[in-house]
Amino acid sequence: MSDIESKITEFLKDKTILVTGGTGSFGKKFIRTVLERYPVKKVIVYSRDELKQFEMQQMFKNESRLRFFIGDVRDKERLYLAFRGVDIVIHAAAIKQVPAAEYNPMECIKTNINGAENIIEASLYTNVQRVIALSTDKAANPINLYGATKLCSDKIFVAGNNLVGDRNLRFSVVRYGNVAGSRGSVVPFFRNLINNGATELPITDENMTRFWITLEQGVQFVLNNLVRMHGGEVFVPKIPSIRIVDLATAMAPNAKQNIIGIRPGEKIHEVMCPRDDFQHTIEFDNFFILKPSIVFSNIDADFTTTALGEKGKLVEPNFEYNSFNNPHYLTVEELVELNKHV
Ligand SMILES: NC(=O)c1ccc[n+]([C@@H]2O[C@H](COP(=O)([O-])OP(=O)(O)OC[C@H]3O[C@@H](n4cnc5c(N)ncnc54)[C@H](OP(=O)(O)O)[C@@H]3O)[C@@H](O)[C@H]2O)c1
Repeated sequence: MSDIESKITEFLKDKTILVTGGTGSFGKKFIRTVLERYPVKKVIVYSRDELKQFEMQQMFKNESRLRFFIGDVRDKERLYLAFRGVDIVIHAAAIKQVPAAEYNPMECIKTNINGAENIIEASLYTNVQRVIALSTDKAANPINLYGATKLCSDKIFVAGNNLVGDRNLRFSVVRYGNVAGSRGSVVPFFRNLINNGATELPITDENMTRFWITLEQGVQFVLNNLVRMHGGEVFVPKIPSIRIVDLATAMAPNAKQNIIGIRPGEKIHEVMCPRDDFQHTIEFDNFFILKPSIVFSNIDADFTTTALGEKGKLVEPNFEYNSFNNPHYLTVEELVELNKHV
């Protein structure tokens, strides 16, 4: 067992973890991983839809450590109830479809921003010790409402550390890019078209690039950061980029690629660590930390050294980590291989 794995095992021993959005793509993978690998006491799913919870109960029929709680992150009182006895919260619930957020801005604000505030309050008044909130590259220099709400959420979680007093409670954020094959993403979209006999695939822009991460990598990164965090960090993994045209070629080599133009709220390239944040960006071997821009009254951490002792250093002036300048791209062949497991 690696050093970090043994730290996670020790940290999660007899702990109760609540996952908001536990029935989603990330939540299911995270929960399966935790139940299979770590000696946790209990895992609680917190989400709205009873059918998704019912289906998940069927998937985990023999798992006595799994509990289900129907609730909305907009409902603070319900969160107080759900957080009783919880040690760790992973906040994955979100409205995350860019067009849906553009058309229904207040719904996205209520879930992604008010929901974040509710998670913090409910943590403050219960015995929660660690909270990791999932964010997205779309929160970096946002141009769409979804990204803007996730940036607000990130800021709310970072600032939440200032409210904890001498409690052993910390909030951090994990930010990453497109999850290969997650619900509503481009891989199932292309796959559906291909399975229905499409001879052409729609491409919004031939230059478009995206960060690309698998669910396994996302889950592992969150787990690693549970034992790495001081509180107040935005953790960004170093992950590969893809060109959307390469993804289409990998999935349907003979299909024509039809350029349809960029959609509302889309960028050609995504950013993970913005240039304007270079003074707060610390580079480690496999990840970056965006350190808080505010000073906490109660946390006196040197963010260039993680709680695991990993050492990083501030990036050069004007450094930016985006999906275009990323030195690591997946090739068409690598995408073909990866898609077999998605
Ligand atoms: N997928 C990606 O490519 C990607 C990339 C970067 C970051 N992220 C972030 O990762 C997180 C998880 O994404 P995902 O792909 O797992 O999303 P997902 O598959 O769409 O799952 C979302 C989950 O949130 C729950 N939910 C939605 N609104 C809720 C509310 N108001 N209260 C309680 N639960 C609610 C949903 O269940 P109910 O509908 O039953 O409530 C579902 O369980 C999100 O924060 C997202 O922003 C995702």
